[in-house]
Amino acid sequence: MSSVGIDQISFYTSNYFLDLRTLAKVQETDPDKYYQGIGQEKMSMAAHDEDIVTMAANAAYPLVQSGEAEQVSTLLFATETGIDQSKAAGIYVHRLLGLNNNCRVVELKQACYSATAAIQMACALVARQPEKKVLVIASDIARYDLNTPGEATQGCGAVAMMVTAQPRVLEIDPEVGNYAEDVMDFWRPNYRKTALVDGKYSTKIYLKALKKAWEDFRESSSLTFNDFAHFCYHLPFSRMAQKAHQHLAKANKSELDASGLEQQIADTLSYNRIIGNSYTASMYIGLSSLLENSQDNLAEKRIGFFSYGSGCVAEFFSGKVVDGYQECLFKEQHREMLDKRQEVTYDEYLNLYKAPDPKDGEAHTIPSDTQGRFRLAAISHHKREYVAI
Ligand code: CAA
Repeated sequence: MSSVGIDQISFYTSNYFLDLRTLAKVQETDPDKYYQGIGQEKMSMAAHDEDIVTMAANAAYPLVQSGEAEQVSTLLFATETGIDQSKAAGIYVHRLLGLNNNCRVVELKQACYSATAAIQMACALVARQPEKKVLVIASDIARYDLNTPGEATQGCGAVAMMVTAQPRVLEIDPEVGNYAEDVMDFWRPNYRKTALVDGKYSTKIYLKALKKAWEDFRESSSLTFNDFAHFCYHLPFSRMAQKAHQHLAKANKSELDASGLEQQIADTLSYNRIIGNSYTASMYIGLSSLLENSQDNLAEKRIGFFSYGSGCVAEFFSGKVVDGYQECLFKEQHREMLDKRQEVTYDEYLNLYKAPDPKDGEAHTIPSDTQGRFRLAAISHHKREYVAI
């Protein structure tokens, strides 16, 4: 059977960010609690005319510029920031990207895990029909209540991955390890815009799920801890990945010292530190970060992935980087997008945070704000109106 996996990967985040030093100052907290303690420096804030749809379309746009729009047979959209209880957010993206009318489109949900479910489903579809391309998009806006411990771990972003046979970036291995348990560590009832979270408990469950998923992985895969050059973890905040990696190393009696372990994950954290949590997208933005920021040639290197979605479902899986992968990255575009972002003041942050959410069915036009290619121009008669700029 031919290999399947990620052929191209591109991400997007908003043009606005709040520096966590600004938040620390207002909260009269030591900024090192954020910069060092949780390992986060900035968090992206969506512009008034941005949401999961516009971010998703922006992330995926570079992947459909060479005729691929016609070839995409399925669009899988993973999110926990759904904008409609019925209509899949991917339908709007399907139009904005000009995908063909014979494309299957569906939305997936299980907290931050669903992008991994989408990747595995995409691999299964492509294994069955190797001539098909499946577009997987994960897009989320992480929001917690103001003045709560979670506030510093907000952010937003989207990542798009084209899953194909003979992929040019990452071959994904068929063996996986899963873990599921009904827990209340983090959730968001339909009537709330912000998540509820039992913060300390959530970090404990994350580590438990890691160990259980890894044990299950080891049942089906011959790969051991030492076979991996790097590990990508779900990234609610970068310190979580450091703790997780130490936990996994200890469980495997790794002989690597602290700096050896750090070297295995350091490049996966660079983008997350300045974007913040992007829920479903975060681990895959971590993969982009590794591929684009590593000084080493990662060709043929094995990467371990730990995907965690509160509630909870977790999965450990593996992949091998393909020779020549550098040609299929969007490193310069990502760098330029991140460099051009604009810092906001605390008041501007509050203004973005408290963006109105019309519920009255009247015609609401939304002033142009985003630097992205796609925007939410209006909400009118309860319908969201998206346009390409
Ligand atoms: N200088 C350096 N370090 C400092 C410091 C300072 N001045 N002040 C505090 N610290 C350190 C603390 O020692 C602590 O380090 P350790 O964890 O290594 O002990 C760290 O900074 C955090 O400090 P606190 O434990 O006091 O932080 P907190 O309780 O206020 O908040 C949190 C931490 C609970 C994780 C909170 O950020 C939160 O609720 N976040 C949202 C939930 C979350 O992200 N959970 C992760 C698992 S669930 C998941 O992964 C799904 C998802 O996407 C949400």
